[in-house]
Parts: sequence; C-alpha cells; structure tokens
Amino acid sequence: MKLVFATNNEHKLDEVRKMTADKIEIISLADINCHDDIPETADTLEGNALQKARYIKEKYGYDCFADDTGLEVEALNNAPGVYSARYAGPGHNSEANMKKLLSEMEGKENRKARFRTVIAIILNNKEYLFEGVVNGSILTEKRGKNGFGYDPVFVPDNYTESFAEMGDIKNKISHRAEAVKKLSTFLLNGIF
Ligand code: IMP
Repeated sequence: MKLVFATNNEHKLDEVRKMTADKIEIISLADINCHDDIPETADTLEGNALQKARYIKEKYGYDCFADDTGLEVEALNNAPGVYSARYAGPGHNSEANMKKLLSEMEGKENRKARFRTVIAIILNNKEYLFEGVVNGSILTEKRGKNGFGYDPVFVPDNYTESFAEMGDIKNKISHRAEAVKKLSTFLLNGIF
C-alpha cells in the first residue's frame, strides 16, 4: 500500500515511517511533486486535518493522511487550540506565542492544559479520524531547550520535567505518538 503523508515536517515523516515499518510505503509531498501551500482554514483540528487530506486526494488522486495539533488551555476556554501556530500573530514564532500564553496565564490558578493531535486519513474514498491527547499543565516560565513550539512551558501529568527538558521520552508519550499509534494499528490490521 502507498500512502501520502501531507506534511513538510521531516521529523513527522520519519516518526510515522518507523511506526508503520515496511508494511506501508509512506510517501512525502516532495515525492509526488507537491510544493503547494496547502490551505488550513478550518476552525477545528479535525477540519484542518481533513482539509489537507482532501486537498491532496482531490488534486493529486492519492490516498492520503494529514495531521493537525493544538494546545488547549482550560482557563483560556481551550485557546490557543487550532490557532496555536499563530497565537501571537501570523507566522510560526514560538517565542512570541509562549510569551503571549504566559502573559494570558498570569495570576491564573488553574494551569491545566492538553496537547491534542488529530490525524485524518482518506482510504478507498472513505474518511477516518484518529486522536491523541496528552494532559498536563502550563508552567509560569519557560524551562528546557529541547523540542519545539510550546514544549518549554508544558509539563505532562505524572512528570516533573517540561517537554523541552525531556529527551526521547517526549516522543513516546506525546499526543502525536498516541495518534500515530492508533493510525498504524488501523493500517496494519487492514480493516478498511
Ligand atoms: P502542527 O499541527 O504540528 O503544525 O502544530 C501547530 C502548532 O502547535 C505548532 O506551531 C506548535 O506551536 C504547536 N505544537 C504542535 N505540536 C507540538 C509539540 O509537540 N510541542 C509543542 N508545541 C507543539
């Protein structure tokens, strides 16, 4: 089976390829000669993941999957959520995003938050969704240098280190790992 993963993130491609072993050939956007800026204009993670997968299926004809991730903070009515990448304005500036988050959280006692990843896949003209969640809390200041995005301000439940202070453990317990695990189990079982 050949499947396109609609991402430009090499790290994510690698992760999924490892988890699906040799049973499924995961091909990249570059492999199908797609250099488009794929639209992500929905107002939910599910909507964005589906939008990206449908775009590839419709324009290029390949069975395809795509993911979208957001940080949902309880005291902020689940913001930044689907807008996590551009919380502080257009672009992907993690420093500015974290600064805004810490300032919005100033004085808040409820620090509960979760990362949520949704993967949408289109297979034989049917659509399926998979979700991965990791619960945790928002620190009052950044800690750690590893990872990316909001990692320095997020501590998962049952750990004391922030995601940015962890090494490989993050990739085993993360929201994305959980969603990818569900996807690979589904694909490897072949029940579709
Ligand atoms: P995307 O869906 O992977 O593009 O992620 C959207 C935004 O969520 C990113 O720009 C990051 O700011 C944030 N994000 C996604 N995954 C992670 C993660 O594992 N750690 C920290 N931040 C993340």
